[in-house]
Amino acid sequence: MPLAAETIRQGGLVAFPTETVYGLGADARNPIAVARVFEAKQRPAIDPLIVHVASPEEAGKYGHIADKHARVLMEQFWPGPLTLVVPKTELVPDIVTAGLETVALRMPAHETALALIRASRTAIAAPSANPFGYVSPTEAQHVAQHLSESVDLILNGGRCPLGIESTIISLTGSSPCLLRAGGTPIEDIERAIGKIERAVFSPDRPRAPGQLARHYATRTPLVILPGDPDASILWPGEKVGLLTLRPVEHPERYAAIEILSPKGDLREAAANLFAALRRLDSRGLDRLAAVPMPEEGLGLAIMDRLRRCAASPS
Ligand code: TXA
Ligand code: MG
Repeated sequence: MPLAAETIRQGGLVAFPTETVYGLGADARNPIAVARVFEAKQRPAIDPLIVHVASPEEAGKYGHIADKHARVLMEQFWPGPLTLVVPKTELVPDIVTAGLETVALRMPAHETALALIRASRTAIAAPSANPFGYVSPTEAQHVAQHLSESVDLILNGGRCPLGIESTIISLTGSSPCLLRAGGTPIEDIERAIGKIERAVFSPDRPRAPGQLARHYATRTPLVILPGDPDASILWPGEKVGLLTLRPVEHPERYAAIEILSPKGDLREAAANLFAALRRLDSRGLDRLAAVPMPEEGLGLAIMDRLRRCAASPS
């Protein structure tokens, strides 16, 4: 850890595990280090980064946490897969927030991540450690595959236990608003603070470009099946890979199959999702087909990622 923290302090890039996905971290107070993150990911400068902190007190240095719901959410869900967007303080360089007056804050529930942030004695700005637009990394190997040239150090923490990014809630408007479904089920959040508005996405107004229609995308085109995989469409002459929650009746119809959770558990499915998409994408198939999953609990975040993966490039 001292080496990784030293790398952060000197303006380097460290990829590190969190409970959701691997992050590509830089000192959030160092605009030049943060610029290297954008460069490494080829991420457009209009897409702000999440600032990772090791405690709610630290969060208060980077964001104004006056909103009445913020304290409740932090107390109940931190550390954990919940990112809060609040007005920023002057400690946060503009490049981190892409010029916005707000900042996204998160305290990850992962010992390695927390130890790195503490030892670095700063906050760590980190997007997911994948090339912009591609499937997020849930293993150190995924990071090495695409970013080994540009990252100074990769902390290998094995597989990310949750496997899907944090839920993002904006607390900057008149009422809390869901910007991205993720690892903290919206049902749990609504139980804590009441009904939450869903952001309306418009391509002309990408409030957060993680909300761009096409994102989390495989190179192989993916379609979401209208329903039952055994009764539905076949593509004659094509090698099709199937992504499904549970086993299907006619596996022989597909060139490859990824079963996300044999017992139909959406938590297990979320944990396996990105690695399964990467495996399917590496097999030289013509098409990927995904069986829709129930949009409850983590299913909402899973379906969000699959829809964005399926959206044709605009
Ligand atoms: O679980 C996660 O959140 C992972 C791990 C590494 O912490 N991080 C992650 O970062 O998913 P990234 O950069 O892939 O996605 C961050 C999202 C983007 O959609 C970005 O636009 C949004 O957060 N975001 C960041 N700052 C924002 C702000 N001030 N207002 C609205 N959205 C913001
Ligand atoms: Mg990302």
